[in-house]
Parts: sequence; C-alpha cells; structure tokens
Amino acid sequence: MNMMNFLKTRKSTREFKRKNANDIDLRKIKDVIDETNRELENMNMYVKLFEYGQRIYDSLRGVGGYSGVMIDSPHYIGLDLKEKNNETILYSGYFMEKIVTQLNNAGLGTCWVSLNDIEDDRKAVIFGEDARGVDYLLAIGYPKPKNPFIHEPFSERIGVEEMVFSNKLGEPISMDELEKRGLGDLLFYIRFAPSTLNKQPWRFIVFDDSIELALVEDNEKVCYEDAGIIMYYFEELAKSQGMNNKWELMDKEETYKDNKYRFIGKYKL
Ligand SMILES: Cc1cc2nc3c(=O)[nH]c(=O)nc-3n(C[C@H](O)[C@H](O)[C@H](O)COP(=O)(O)O)c2cc1C
Repeated sequence: MNMMNFLKTRKSTREFKRKNANDIDLRKIKDVIDETNRELENMNMYVKLFEYGQRIYDSLRGVGGYSGVMIDSPHYIGLDLKEKNNETILYSGYFMEKIVTQLNNAGLGTCWVSLNDIEDDRKAVIFGEDARGVDYLLAIGYPKPKNPFIHEPFSERIGVEEMVFSNKLGEPISMDELEKRGLGDLLFYIRFAPSTLNKQPWRFIVFDDSIELALVEDNEKVCYEDAGIIMYYFEELAKSQGMNNKWELMDKEETYKDNKYRFIGKYKL
C-alpha cells in the first residue's frame, strides 16, 4: 500500500481475534523477523518472535502496557537491546515501526506494548535469559472486526502548523510554502505516525537545504523511540517524493516558551 494511505488509516489494534496466525502468515512474520535481524546485525539489538502469546500475556497481565493494561494477542515480537543508549533506543523505534508496516501490509494488526516498570530479572524469566533487554513488545494478530454501528475512538493529531516551523522554533511556515518545497503531503501525513501515549513530540524546522527534527522534552526526558519512528516514516514518505537521503544524527538542546527541545537529526533536502 502507498505509504501516505497506509499512514492515514494506520491504527493500533488492541482487540485481537482468538486465533493464531495461519501457516502462511506465520511464515511471513518469521521472514520479516529474519530480514530485520540481518539489518540489525551490527547494531547490538535483535528481534525475537514469541509465537505462543498466551504465556506472555499471562505473565504480563497487570504489569505490561499502559498502567498495566496488557494487550492480549496470539503472538508478540520483542526487540532486545543489548546496549541501551539514545542511539540504540532511537533505532529500536525505527526498526520496530518498519516491522509494523510490513505486518500491516500482510493483513495483521499490531500494537506497541510498553514494559517500562518491569525489572530485567523478571523479563529474563518471561522472555528468556538472552532477552532480558526487551523494553517493548509488539502485539500481533488478526484484528477483531469493527462494529459499523459503534463510533471508534480516534487518536487526535496536532495540526501541521503546530509541528512545522521555518528556520527556527516558533517561526510559522505556510502550507503554500511547504507545497512549493514538495513537503506538503509528507508533513501532512506523517502526523499519523504513532507515539508514546500519543504525545506527538515531533517538531520539524525547515531550512533552505535541510530539515531538522527536534523532540519536545517531557520532564527532561526525550522519547527516542518516538524519534526513530518518525525518522523511519519521513524517509519512506520522502522516497515517494523522489528524495532518497537518510537522517544524520545531531545533538543540541534549545528552549522555546518554557519547553526544552532536543534536536535529533538533520535531513538534507
Ligand atoms: C513506544 C510506544 C509505546 C506504546 N505503548 C503502548 C502501550 O503500552 N499500550 C497501548 O495500548 N498502546 C501503546 N502505544 C500505542 C500508542 O498509544 C498509539 O500509537 C497512539 O496513541 C496513537 O494511536 P494509533 O496508533 O491508534 O493511531 C505505544 C506506542 C509507542 C510508539
């Protein structure tokens, strides 16, 4: 599916059918995992499939997910970070979301599941000694059909004008200007990316020959997974506009109107 349409309709699946993935889809999941692990070879992280989800769900009920609301799915994928630093956390978001797009294209629903307050020793018991660095799971399965008579809750998104600036934070940029620069559609659709607690901390600052990504800090904390997710989608959407660059990482902090912003990366236009 075209990435813009995909993003517009992308939604977390929190209710799954009580049914395992069939053999063909399970093969697809395993292929995606193998391919991802080849890409992650030199990055100190790897992904692992937990095919028998019931055991994982039972172990994490009341502790996994937002406020212990664990997502019940037939299978899970864990991303294990061997070394946790800002860069590896960022790329964990990048690659996990790449997996999401591949699985969604195969008709599978997914939801990120946070495991923030669980000690590594407990994780070692649940996921195996070799996977004690799993901080997030991806719940996977077939989405339960929606009831057409019930209005589904929709996760609101901020407007482009709140997210995109010209040359410095707070300096507005018009949609016309973004269209002229070939960035209108990209920055419109990228807002549908997922983020922790749907906080959408991303801000883009457009310069003549580049665009910088900054994240709003939350109590001095930067959500690097959210940075990786948006960098992945930016690169994919940019490709569909004929731009094939990759983000270069940067590290700078600025304060604007009582908020701190961490500059994460620069993309050459
Ligand atoms: C790093 C990360 C962690 C998340 N953890 C959870 C979680 O534990 N439970 C949950 O229900 N959703 C979780 N989500 C999903 C987001 O809340 C969701 O993507 C966001 O609210 C936007 O909703 P949408 O995906 O339906 O568009 C997580 C998302 C990210 C990116």
